[in-house]
Amino acid sequence: MSEPLRVGVLASGSGSNLQALLDRFNLGDDPSARVVLVVGSRPGIRALDRAREAGVRAEVLPATVQNSEEDPEGDEAFLLRRLGAVDVQLVVLAGYLRLIPASVVRAFWGRMINIHPALLPSFGGHGMYGRRVHEAVIDRGCKVSGVTIHFVSEEYDRGPIVAQWPIPVMEDDDSDALAARVLRVEHRLLPAVVSGIARGRLSLSSAGRAEWVPPLCGAETFRAGPDDDVTTRKDG
Ligand code: GRF
Repeated sequence: MSEPLRVGVLASGSGSNLQALLDRFNLGDDPSARVVLVVGSRPGIRALDRAREAGVRAEVLPATVQNSEEDPEGDEAFLLRRLGAVDVQLVVLAGYLRLIPASVVRAFWGRMINIHPALLPSFGGHGMYGRRVHEAVIDRGCKVSGVTIHFVSEEYDRGPIVAQWPIPVMEDDDSDALAARVLRVEHRLLPAVVSGIARGRLSLSSAGRAEWVPPLCGAETFRAGPDDDVTTRKDG
């Protein structure tokens, strides 16, 4: 097998999706990829502890950059330097709340993905993150929500869609219950997608569509067994 795909993860919070990647690639037995760098947007977040506990290099945006609302130049220089220093081949935004500067998007075009806790293009865009997403889904009376993984473009949540997984919304769901059900699927879909990318199964067509060979649907995304039936409410 060829060298593992070198993955850099950007996070702003708990890092449970980061943990799902670490469990499969760094601590588990899938040799196709490896998390080599975690960048936190601020110190003290759980994601950084998770990286260190797994023996992965963990770095924080410098204070000067963190403290500016949006300072694309500061973010740009730091991210390009740090991601380049360890030869990151795929960037994963896993709950990263800062804007990615356009130059970084261009440098990693087709090699940077984001995970979003709803079915895009609905319920995405600037300011739509965390609990707000699930509240909006429930307020709208949606019967289905889901997980979307997409390539990162210069607009929030608008890049080519890479993978999706639908999840039912129950009548009595509040945002916490829905978030928990969605997160459980995120932890399965994200490592599956990274593994597929590492195995060269994903490409971007000239029309800007993400294409899987063989198709992803019907394999990882919709397979549910007795122990991992995400359509039930047992863990909701
Ligand atoms: C996830 O719901 C993800 O979809 C969104 O932010 C959340 C991050 O959770 N982008 P965690 O930090 O991975 O636990």
